[in-house]
Amino acid sequence: MTGRVRIAVFPVAGLGTRFLPATKAMPKEMLPVVDRPLIQYAVDEAREAGIEHFVFVTGRNKGVIEDHFDQQYELERTLEERGKTDALAELHKDLPMAGRTSFTRQQEPLGLGHAVWCAREIVRGEPFALLLPDMIMKATPGCLSQMMTAYDELGGNIIAVEQIDPKDSASYGIVDRGQGPDNGFEIVGMVEKPQPADAPSNFIISGRYILQPEIFDILSGQSTGAGGEIQLTDAMLTLMARQKFHGVKFNGKTFDCGSKIGFLTANVAYALDRPDIAEGFMKEIRELAATAGHN
Ligand code: UTP
Repeated sequence: MTGRVRIAVFPVAGLGTRFLPATKAMPKEMLPVVDRPLIQYAVDEAREAGIEHFVFVTGRNKGVIEDHFDQQYELERTLEERGKTDALAELHKDLPMAGRTSFTRQQEPLGLGHAVWCAREIVRGEPFALLLPDMIMKATPGCLSQMMTAYDELGGNIIAVEQIDPKDSASYGIVDRGQGPDNGFEIVGMVEKPQPADAPSNFIISGRYILQPEIFDILSGQSTGAGGEIQLTDAMLTLMARQKFHGVKFNGKTFDCGSKIGFLTANVAYALDRPDIAEGFMKEIRELAATAGHN
């Protein structure tokens, strides 16, 4: 029925229109939070959760993501010559093992569901994790690790959820909560971007999933939904008629780095966590906040 989760899929083929012009020639997933690109946070989280193979669904202008996960021979030689051993060690630590990455193309950004479907030949018949790299989940242990704990017990399909202010429901996919505790309750329905009065709960689908491979068959036959895109939520709803879905309210905080406020806030949160810069950065922020709106 359900097996071990070895593979993670990272859809990185979107246009990132909310970050134009920064994303005109540079992938949104390479925007840095402090000094690490968004995609690196997602890969680190997956690795911590025991993922062994990393599948990237890329598109035009995304070649730099592939380069990021490759060795940069000249750079590394220069770092070595200059004795910058810490920086060199850091680069090596971030690299997935040789042969453990795959890159496939989504030629047209036809939606998240379509991007996931593009990974079907690589994932084949296995359950897989899906991480949206523009969502950073700040959590210890990582969000996917927390989901894996639930998966080991419950199997099936798992979605990380988070509670929001109900008045914001029209910006999110919302789950309908059934029986069970916060760390593994049954999901009995899902609605994309409902008005607050129509929202079945205030638990949002927050960008991390463990899915069974039957989702690919459903996506194969699926037509476009909201926004003319192939919607993952529609496919999950179809799968829900046949398989169990559970929500895991993970311990931690999500930063939606696809939005400007989320991205900027993530930079502040991660910078304040860094012993090398926290103090100086806090001082600058305090000064800025004290004078904000006065100029
Ligand atoms: P988003 O909807 O947040 O990304 O998709 P976007 O479409 O690039 O952003 P905006 O709305 O235009 O600013 C979440 C993730 O899914 C990927 C994106 O790259 C992002 O990492 N995605 C989205 C795809 O790979 N293909 C798609 O067709 C859509």
